Amino acid sequence: MFLGVDHAGIGVEDMDTALDFWGRKLGFTELYFDYTGPIPGLEEITKTNQVKARIVMLGNKNSSRLGPGKVKLVQRLDGAGAPPYPSGIGYGEIGLAEVCLHTVHTQKIYQELVEKLGCESLMVPLNASVGPHDVELDIGYIADPWRGKVELIEWKGLWTSRPGLPRVEGVNHVAFGVSDMKTTIDFYKQLGFLDQIFESTEFFEPMAPWYQVGRPLPGHHMTLHLSAQGAGIEPVRLTPLYEDCRGEWGHVGPMDFGIGVQNIKKGVAELERLGIEMHSEIQTLNVGNSEYKYVYFRDPDDQYVCLVESSY
Ligand SMILES: [Fe+2]
Repeated sequence: MFLGVDHAGIGVEDMDTALDFWGRKLGFTELYFDYTGPIPGLEEITKTNQVKARIVMLGNKNSSRLGPGKVKLVQRLDGAGAPPYPSGIGYGEIGLAEVCLHTVHTQKIYQELVEKLGCESLMVPLNASVGPHDVELDIGYIADPWRGKVELIEWKGLWTSRPGLPRVEGVNHVAFGVSDMKTTIDFYKQLGFLDQIFESTEFFEPMAPWYQVGRPLPGHHMTLHLSAQGAGIEPVRLTPLYEDCRGEWGHVGPMDFGIGVQNIKKGVAELERLGIEMHSEIQTLNVGNSEYKYVYFRDPDDQYVCLVESSY
């Protein structure tokens, strides 16, 4: 029924700059659609019925089993344009924290992006192993043009990938802050995120510089869950909880995500059977040679999350 995370939604201030970053630098060059117009179905979320945006849905040319997710670039065109990056974001506050790309030879990709292509570094790559299954990975971070967090991971211990030259693949997971880990895991298990890849309760020290000076460093509880298809989810619980950093829908940086289904009517029926509330009726946008069908629903922290019929 559910096909994992279909895409990570990323707010951008300027589409040309965003396409240069996501397309030319990161290899998201497969165009699914490029739509400009009203975005209905966000009235409950945004408290306005005037949302207008350009949405560009892109897949990665090297997309793989560990990088299957797309990116949905969203440029708000109503009001004052793209809302700002929520000011309190360090990592793990309620709301989207990052988008993670699977990258073969993370160190080399990072070097290319930072030293040759001018991307900002947020964490120098390091090698780690995560429990309880002792899965090895290489991990680093860069910033998108508006300082949103983009993680680069090679999951060496999961699947050795196809042999090949250094490359960025597609989206591996999205991370988001939650108020209760067990409630979140139980909720998303119902939506097919059944395989827990790791669990960590240690503060991840390399992230310390991301928190504002003077703010006590929080405790980190992180887990990563993959679905049989699509990209995964990484809920993060901070201790103590911090302010809500969901920000306005469309804010720059990672800000929402979509879970794929083949048939959205059946998907909604299943969510309703599970007692999950929708924020609107199913919406259909004509995006040229196909339709973009979506509906936002309410998860335990009311993240910006939608169901999408992945037929575009
Ligand atoms: Fe992550």
